[in-house]
Amino acid sequence: MARLVVVSNRVSLPGEARAGGLAVALRAALAEHGGLWFGWSGRTVAGSSGGMHEEREGDTRYLVMDLSRRDFDDYYNGFANRTLWPLLHFRMDLVDYTRETYAGYRRVNELFADRLAPELREDDLVWIHDYHLIPLAQRLRERGVGNRIGFFLHVPMPSSDLLAALPEHREVFAALSSYDLVGFQTGRDLERFQDYVRLYGGGGVVGTGVLATPDGRQFHGGAFPIGIDVPTIAGQAARAMKRLPVRRLRDSLSGRRLAIGVDRLDYSKGLPERFRAFERHLERHPDQNGQLTFLQIAPPSRSDVPEYRLLRRELETLAGHINSGHATPDWTPVRYVNRNFAHEVLTGFYRIADVGVVTPMRDGMNLVAKEYVAAQDPADPGVLLLSRFAGAARELDTALLVNPYDIDGVADALAQALAMPLPERQQRWRAMMDRIEGYDIHAWRRDFLGKLAAR
Ligand code: G6P
Repeated sequence: MARLVVVSNRVSLPGEARAGGLAVALRAALAEHGGLWFGWSGRTVAGSSGGMHEEREGDTRYLVMDLSRRDFDDYYNGFANRTLWPLLHFRMDLVDYTRETYAGYRRVNELFADRLAPELREDDLVWIHDYHLIPLAQRLRERGVGNRIGFFLHVPMPSSDLLAALPEHREVFAALSSYDLVGFQTGRDLERFQDYVRLYGGGGVVGTGVLATPDGRQFHGGAFPIGIDVPTIAGQAARAMKRLPVRRLRDSLSGRRLAIGVDRLDYSKGLPERFRAFERHLERHPDQNGQLTFLQIAPPSRSDVPEYRLLRRELETLAGHINSGHATPDWTPVRYVNRNFAHEVLTGFYRIADVGVVTPMRDGMNLVAKEYVAAQDPADPGVLLLSRFAGAARELDTALLVNPYDIDGVADALAQALAMPLPERQQRWRAMMDRIEGYDIHAWRRDFLGKLAAR
């Protein structure tokens, strides 16, 4: 079996407490194949980029690289998170493009290629992840790397008209043709990319999932909706009921019902709109005030980027506004928490929540939606309220699907969720469980790597 080389901006090093589901799945793949995980060390250093650190666990090597403050600013804070992130999430209004940050993006991708190329063996399978590293295959090919190289985009692929607004779009997105296989979260993302290739790639689409470059080289595209490890999450959630933070949350509700949201503090997640929808619900049902608590957990993210700092302030104001207008001496409607929790504790929070509120304006997949489902008690499952614009909505179509731009509609759905009878809750939940069990995180990685190896 070929060795596997995973490359991503963030690397989850062995022993890291908060490894998410994806990290666990990639580690399992690495353990099966033996291999290497390569990426950024998470550190910025004075001086220049390129210092390497290595760790080992079993047959897996972890090789990570430091970045200089300037490279970190131009590549990560700049082009990746102020240009590509908003563009890929349909937020043209937030796109900030400069030649300088683009040069930094190219520079760091060159450096990744410089450091990675000498590590590669002839029959390694190389799997590169996400928007930080789109040009990496092309940079490796320039260094003579002939291996099979796959790419998976974790975030949405927007329409070609949006992509074309990026001054360097041909250079950035045409670089995807250097991969043997390009994976997207949903069939819609793949279609939009095929449309881009047709219009701007100069080559066109040859057949289902087969794309071509102007010089006739073919590469493949596919939809691989990322999943979760369902039995692990279900087991964690059941166990978590005994843990102190979960018991304390439950006790603190004094019999009130709970709606929960858990998101990185990011403008793609629709948090201000969600807060307003909750407020609308309170305004419409004054008789029910005091009966529902909304807990929003939102660990800060990318706080060097101005848009994220602004959002944080906006949410603080909104939460304060809602609470001061509706609270009673013994009830706070919104509990807004800017920190992260151990993953098992979160699954316990999901299990005791009557409603899971997942309302991003755009999201590649959204694994919180799937984890909320997996964490429920089959005898008394909660209701998932899910944005149509999350990739997960394509599979979880028996959730209460909402348009997050429609504040009244989300408030209606919240009321519907709270009133939903047990048999309907169970029916909807069962259908969602069947979907997430049918194509879980391990099926996802095996499917992708199988197709990459067969190319
Ligand atoms: C999204 C992206 C990932 C990224 C994660 C956390 O899920 O698709 O590539 O790692 O957010 O963001 P951060 O900037 O902290 O790595």
